[in-house]
Amino acid sequence: MTYPVNMSVTPVVSAHFDEATNTISYIVRDPSSTHCAIIDSVMDIDYAAGRITYDHADKLIEEITSQGLTLDWIIETHVHADHLSAAPYIQSKLGGKIGVGEKIMIVQETFGKVFNEGTEFQRDGSQFDALFKDGDTYMVGNMQGFAMFTPGHTPACMVHVMGDAAFAGDTLFMPDGGSARADFPGGDAGELYDSIQKVLSLPDEMRLFMCHDYGPNGRAIEWETTVAEQKADNIHVGGGKSREEFIKFRTERDAQLDMPKLIIPSLQVNMRAGEVPTDKDGNPMLKVPVNKL
Ligand SMILES: [Fe+2]
Repeated sequence: MTYPVNMSVTPVVSAHFDEATNTISYIVRDPSSTHCAIIDSVMDIDYAAGRITYDHADKLIEEITSQGLTLDWIIETHVHADHLSAAPYIQSKLGGKIGVGEKIMIVQETFGKVFNEGTEFQRDGSQFDALFKDGDTYMVGNMQGFAMFTPGHTPACMVHVMGDAAFAGDTLFMPDGGSARADFPGGDAGELYDSIQKVLSLPDEMRLFMCHDYGPNGRAIEWETTVAEQKADNIHVGGGKSREEFIKFRTERDAQLDMPKLIIPSLQVNMRAGEVPTDKDGNPMLKVPVNKL
């Protein structure tokens, strides 16, 4: 696959860090117009209380509104297991199309079973406005973006590239954070390695924006790096680590990890493009499947 890389366009990228989930949401603006896209928004949840609020999303909305921008796209790099998407809330305020990788259908099939969803839960991705295939392009104003299929962390992960900026989702963390786990259903450490190599084959100067940062070893939160920095310094794949080494390390490491705190509400909401499921009477309601994850 040859991707339509265009390093001559430099989008304006505004990052919004969510402290509760260590997620970074982005507003990406076409430098030649007033059009923008959002990558990986966050809906706030107090899971113990079953309470959903929109402070983080409201900050994104406020920035877009105050600058008079038009929102073309609300993109999910994948079905997140650690935070809930605010895509439908943002769409209801600002418009824009909600897009995700076409392999979402695999994720819907897998977790449709885990949550014992009935036939009313469609497993064809129809909850989303757009399903991206590898190499698909789209426009944000005059700026072309494209989706790069990067499975491994999940089977539906995509990295999104606009001009000289790539949004890595959970393929990579900052160089001192390494990579994301590959042990969720449908995840695969070998595929993740191959996907990371794809990202590292982008131009060295490509800016890379992470979806998460946990500030390893007490450093301040960061989210921006470059392909060159990742190739040289990434602690899991940098310096030419082999596929075999990576798979061994990743598999052993993943076996030690706890489930993300918000995996149960996140999957139910995110596999529905950010909509909270409802019970038979139409009340918003989340389930807890016992011993299924
Ligand atoms: Fe993730």
